[in-house]
Amino acid sequence: MIDGMEDEGRVTGITDQQVTAYLEGLMPRRSPLLMRLEEEARQEGIPNIAPVSAAVLRLLCALHQPASILEIGAAIGYSAIHMAEAAADARITTIEIDPARAARARANFEEAGLSGRITLIEGDALQHLPLLEGPFEMIFIDAAKGKYSQFLTEAYRLCAAGGIIVTDNVLFRGLVARSPETLDRRYRSTVRRLREYNELLMQHPGLSTTYLTVGDGIAVSIKR
Ligand SMILES: C[S@@+](CC[C@H](N)C(=O)[O-])C[C@H]1O[C@@H](n2cnc3c(N)ncnc32)[C@H](O)[C@@H]1O
Repeated sequence: MIDGMEDEGRVTGITDQQVTAYLEGLMPRRSPLLMRLEEEARQEGIPNIAPVSAAVLRLLCALHQPASILEIGAAIGYSAIHMAEAAADARITTIEIDPARAARARANFEEAGLSGRITLIEGDALQHLPLLEGPFEMIFIDAAKGKYSQFLTEAYRLCAAGGIIVTDNVLFRGLVARSPETLDRRYRSTVRRLREYNELLMQHPGLSTTYLTVGDGIAVSIKR
């Protein structure tokens, strides 16, 4: 079955569940803390990035070795901990709007011994991003999908030349490939906005972007 399939096939996905499970089985075991955060996400429906997508973040961190990372959308800190582990010298700033999740992320950074390197800003990224000063060598956009285009304006300003902007969920269960009018009403607006975002990314004169069909779709953009 394709990941994300539900409603008798009306919602599809971009990867095969069996292949994803196989890959996850091959992956090295994460730390006990990261495994616990994966379990909490399963139990409570917290939208942590998929482990196969976290592996892409780790790869990008290992290759690029950013000294500074900005994350938009911390949830309970799962992806920030992955990035901090893979870029051992990086300082990370992460923004989370939900106070309960922000509190859990803070506690998890503390437990991981990373609170000295990870700064959590609690609040709406759209209000906080204009107050930040860059440059950041890597920026990970993983918050409200309908606001990606607005996040990108600030992310582009804050990104260092030669830096990378990574965006998750850009293929949104494969639904972005369908005409929004043919979709269930509840997905139409998100799909319209993501399609606009994908066009913006691909046509942006200052970015060079590649799409990876991993997890829910990841865009990797390099700032020229
Ligand atoms: C997909 S989750 C982030 C998952 C996290 N990056 C991880 O993989 O561990 C998206 C998070 O963005 C937060 N969020 C949504 N809109 C936001 C905004 N405008 N500013 C900051 N955070 C926001 C949500 O509360 C949610 O926890």
